[in-house]
Amino acid sequence: MSEGRGQWGSRLSFILAAAGSAVGLGNLWKFPYITGMNGGGAFVLIYLVCILLIGLPIMIGEVLLGRMSQSSVVGTFPKLRGEPTAWVSVGWLGVATGIVILSYYSVVAGWSLHYVWLAITGELLKSDPQTLFASTYADPAINLRYHSLFMAITAVIVLGGIKGGVERAARVLMPVLLLMMAALLAYATTLDGFGRAVDFVFGFHLESLTGDAVLEALGHSFFTLSLGMGAMLTYGSYLSRRDDVIAVSLATTALDTIVALMACLVLFPITFSAGMEAANGPGLVFINMPLAFASLPGGQIWSLAFFVLLFFAALSSAISLLEVAAAYLIDERGWSRRNAVLVTAGLVFVIGIPSALSGSTNGTFGAEAHWIGERNWFDTFDYLASNWMLPLGGLGIAGFTAWRLGGRAREASFKAGSKLGSLPGVYFAWLQLLRYAVPVAIVVVMLHALGVL
Ligand code: PHE
Repeated sequence: MSEGRGQWGSRLSFILAAAGSAVGLGNLWKFPYITGMNGGGAFVLIYLVCILLIGLPIMIGEVLLGRMSQSSVVGTFPKLRGEPTAWVSVGWLGVATGIVILSYYSVVAGWSLHYVWLAITGELLKSDPQTLFASTYADPAINLRYHSLFMAITAVIVLGGIKGGVERAARVLMPVLLLMMAALLAYATTLDGFGRAVDFVFGFHLESLTGDAVLEALGHSFFTLSLGMGAMLTYGSYLSRRDDVIAVSLATTALDTIVALMACLVLFPITFSAGMEAANGPGLVFINMPLAFASLPGGQIWSLAFFVLLFFAALSSAISLLEVAAAYLIDERGWSRRNAVLVTAGLVFVIGIPSALSGSTNGTFGAEAHWIGERNWFDTFDYLASNWMLPLGGLGIAGFTAWRLGGRAREASFKAGSKLGSLPGVYFAWLQLLRYAVPVAIVVVMLHALGVL
């Protein structure tokens, strides 16, 4: 290990931090809303298949690469090849993707901060949820204020380094999040709309599925597991050879999937019980949760707790997004952590300004502007990053791990510290998935979405 790099305090810390990265707005905000937009059941099934057959093998590959190289996503490729290599472009793509994602992620996270404030003042439960969200989304001043606040908080934590900041935050945040989701789920089962919601999420409604929806399910499986840009690789680089990569990857993937499904099973019963549409768009969690809290005893406390939680979930993911670019500047360029974090966070803030204007009447970046198709700036960034950049990065990571890494070192590292990984056939199955199934699936889905196939 190179001088001065941090390391996790224990294996549990890594799981919590990796799960903290994975579980975020992707689970609580995005997954329910795109499930609603894509008609439920069949979309969910394809997403689950992507998680299991594509996401999990890549997750193992990414964490493994990081642990083997003990360096950032850009440094990993030349280091493991032992020479300069064009594969380094996968690392560059990762750093760029992290910056792009964080730029609009921070805006949505900012909404959660704004809602925390509205819950404290009590305004949240007094207003009509739909109007309240619409006016939040449309207001450049609110968006810019909370976007900058959120980036500042993220930067302060990443400044604290691995042990001091990232790990300490994750240890508290994850368990609380799980408890609160369980409580909300228990409440949701008592609602009239619960049965319909279960059918919506798990019933197989093939008719509502399109080629774009398959690309979206694939892209989202990368987004929600924080794959394809080196976030998991960077976290894996703080692991030691004694750590069980297979077990921690499994645990992280399982936890992330459980929270995403729980979010749907909390949100859709509320949606249906209130007689609202599932395809409500990005406002879903911000409109429907307050709706439920308004009718709950102690609604103000609930709403406060929920949006604090949403903010924490976003924060622990944002930390990992920022850490990728910062780790690159620290490890490869010899920058101090302080300068690396301040410069990247500042850059992300500036790039995020158009996204903060995305609900406004601004002609170039606002709600009515069209960049790719009907998408405004915000949606275009999300579309490009999740549906194209992450899967492309994942393709690169899978390709490198499966075809370019020395076979003996790869196998030894896969099995090191892992009982599960040493079971007969496990390594072989993983390698075959990564070699053939993963690249073919990603390429086919992309060509299909481009209309070539
Ligand atoms: N996985 C995070 C979420 O679901 C988002 C994320 C993507 C974080 C990529 C890191 C890297 O909210």
